[in-house]
Amino acid sequence: MKKESWGSRMGLILAMAGNAVGLGNFLRFPVQAVQNGGGAFILPYLICFLLMGIPLLFTEWSIGRFGGKLGNHSTPYILDSINKKWYWKYVGVFGIFTNIAVVAYYTYIESWTFVYVVHSVIGTFTGMSKEAVSLFFDQYVQFSGSDFGIPLFPVLAYVAVLGVNMYILSTGLGGIEKVAKIGMPLLILFGVILAIRGWTMGNSFASEEFPDANAWDGINFLWTPQYTSLADPKVWLAAAGQIFFTLSVGMGSIQCYASYLKENEDIALNSVTAGFTNEFVEVILGSAIVIPIAAGFLGLDWVLQNAGFGMAFQTMPYLFQQWGPLIGAFAGICWFGLLFFAGITSSLAMGTPWMGFMKDEFGWGKVKGAVSFGLIGLTMGLPTVLFYQYGYFDEYDYWGGTVSLVIFAFLETILFTYIFGMKKGWAEINRGADIRIPGIYKWIMTYVTPVLLFLVLMGALITPAGNDWVGAISKLVSGEGWGLDPNSLIAKLNFVDLKAKLVANPENAEFIKKKMLFSGWARIQLGALFLLICGIVWYSSQLRKKASL
Ligand code: TRP
Repeated sequence: MKKESWGSRMGLILAMAGNAVGLGNFLRFPVQAVQNGGGAFILPYLICFLLMGIPLLFTEWSIGRFGGKLGNHSTPYILDSINKKWYWKYVGVFGIFTNIAVVAYYTYIESWTFVYVVHSVIGTFTGMSKEAVSLFFDQYVQFSGSDFGIPLFPVLAYVAVLGVNMYILSTGLGGIEKVAKIGMPLLILFGVILAIRGWTMGNSFASEEFPDANAWDGINFLWTPQYTSLADPKVWLAAAGQIFFTLSVGMGSIQCYASYLKENEDIALNSVTAGFTNEFVEVILGSAIVIPIAAGFLGLDWVLQNAGFGMAFQTMPYLFQQWGPLIGAFAGICWFGLLFFAGITSSLAMGTPWMGFMKDEFGWGKVKGAVSFGLIGLTMGLPTVLFYQYGYFDEYDYWGGTVSLVIFAFLETILFTYIFGMKKGWAEINRGADIRIPGIYKWIMTYVTPVLLFLVLMGALITPAGNDWVGAISKLVSGEGWGLDPNSLIAKLNFVDLKAKLVANPENAEFIKKKMLFSGWARIQLGALFLLICGIVWYSSQLRKKASL
């Protein structure tokens, strides 16, 4: 049988770039940048890209191609191809788990973007007040709106978008490649159109309510470097987290895509091209849309106070309307269409590790693989849809979409650089290479990347109170101990963050208690998913043993 592989180099690069370019570039990056001081964020961010992002891309592309050569297309047995110790296949479980945990809520956001494209086309937001547009979103996620008069419409839209993903996945790599070839250029086109608007608005949309509004304030805020932040671990942690999420490293989906490379196909140039494409879209386009446009209408102060995930859905549709109904509709289609394409090329990537695993181990075909993936995604995802406001979504994002990535990336780096060995590793990266990677990367990958990953992991684990590292260290030295921040991983495990909120807002006790309950359930569900995949991996290992007797 012919081995499955990518149709063309262009298709491969676009699919890999599509994997990386996602909602993270347009929704997560601007918010992270603003919350971490704008120009203060960019430098640590770029350094993390060079010292952690690029090395992890090399590592993941290499181990992926290596495992694929031996017929393994998902991280449990890709890692097992590198080292035969029994536990590596269970480390590899992360590379399936993360994808399913994330796809569950990611496709929900994807369904919002699609629904908002439709609303932009039919002019739902025309003439609505700022408050009304914002309320529209709140009602959507609480199912109290009357979208098209269909009850539980948000759930239906979610199931439909998941269904579209399943359908495309069932057509295999060819289908993914086709979506990337259409979606990526369109997304960049839409992004450029909106970015030009963001760059050229200036203060021409200042109003009586916001006389100082000026888009340039937003751009300057992001692009005036501030060197003091280099000493602030909080900013470094946020920067590292963003690099992970946006490049899709530590997730298992790059390894899976790379396992469909041919044995001597270039890794060095392809991985860097896909990585830089992602950075272009994120840093150039991602920073030129939401922040400048919002600052152009509402002023930078408003943006600094309101920066959050909601801006994209609660504020943008209103702002677009200020350009008149026609251009407003067009801008809405560009913006939500861009988000939709960014989303779908990433959510497709999340399906492939599971499908690859079931095919390799149990011979499941594409349809069976795609349908089973959809059903698990739905089982994991329905609660995030139904209990969105009780924090189900946030738990998935934190444990599945943040913590897991760093743990997995750290372990796979150790495996690649120290157990496989950097000498063999370097040869693997350079086999078939179309460029010469600067030799310094060998050194960075051996000494810098693993240390940085370890620091990031520790930083998240024991974030000190108020995120004040300098103060915490001096307190520790003077014997006063280490005060944990409610947002540190350890404190989160015990719901310290929610318990503190309970004390601070007794009037909200009922809601916060409900949140605690549902967050607990979310964790149980995530844990069950992880164990289920471990069980399947164990079962497959028994089958492999039997087959080799
Ligand atoms: N990188 C994507 C983004 O920026 C997210 C993503 C792609 C992802 N593949 C993934 C997340 C696999 C988890 C698992 O939005």
